Amino acid sequence: MRTPILVASVLPADFSELGQQVKQLEKAGVDRIQWDVMDGRFVPNLTFGPDVIAASRRHVSLGFEAHLMVDDPDLMLPRWVEAGCEIVIVHAESTRHLPHTLSAIRDLGARAGVALNPATPMQAVTNVLHLSDPLLIMTVAPGFGGQKYLAAMEPKIAAARAEIDRRGLEVELEVDGGINAATIGAAARAGATVFCAGSALFNGPGTMADRVAALREAAAAGMKHN
Ligand code: DX5
Repeated sequence: MRTPILVASVLPADFSELGQQVKQLEKAGVDRIQWDVMDGRFVPNLTFGPDVIAASRRHVSLGFEAHLMVDDPDLMLPRWVEAGCEIVIVHAESTRHLPHTLSAIRDLGARAGVALNPATPMQAVTNVLHLSDPLLIMTVAPGFGGQKYLAAMEPKIAAARAEIDRRGLEVELEVDGGINAATIGAAARAGATVFCAGSALFNGPGTMADRVAALREAAAAGMKHN
């Protein structure tokens, strides 16, 4: 029986206190931290580079994943791993030779993931699914936190779950965008097992630990159906 993995996006964090914020996330009980790397070209927003991630690395022992919402991700692959990321996720839409990019990430000793924008069909990665861990299905248009969850992505999540299970692949199926207590159950029922949340962790009722627990409980309940 799979258990839900909760990944915290730092996008809504106070960037003036990132070290403290990642410590707070670790204390609240998340499983991993996602660094939303944006270049102002692939998405209309600009966030941070590897030096910012490296500065936070010493504050926590949690795993870091770099979600590269950038053009030409091949240019800087080693930098994310050197900064302390154990997972590097590239967008299928951002590189011409996905198998090469994923192999280059693995050669650096990291797990290589692939992200799909909402308009990109699951079929875009069928031939590299065995090389993609995690497969990250965006449930918002990338670029900003606090957007509304796209329930229209659930058939794509279900198709990915069916393909992963049919082939018996050890690939985490992650969703990212608008994940909160009201939406995480539906994403889990569709087949997701890894859930990236930002706004729902930094804002909402109770403590951050309360919000982590509520998300985990709702995800586990939904996962019972897939
Ligand atoms: C979009 C970002 C967001 C972020 C989570 O590019 O990838 O999805 O991680 O943001 P929330 O949880 O606020 O939607």
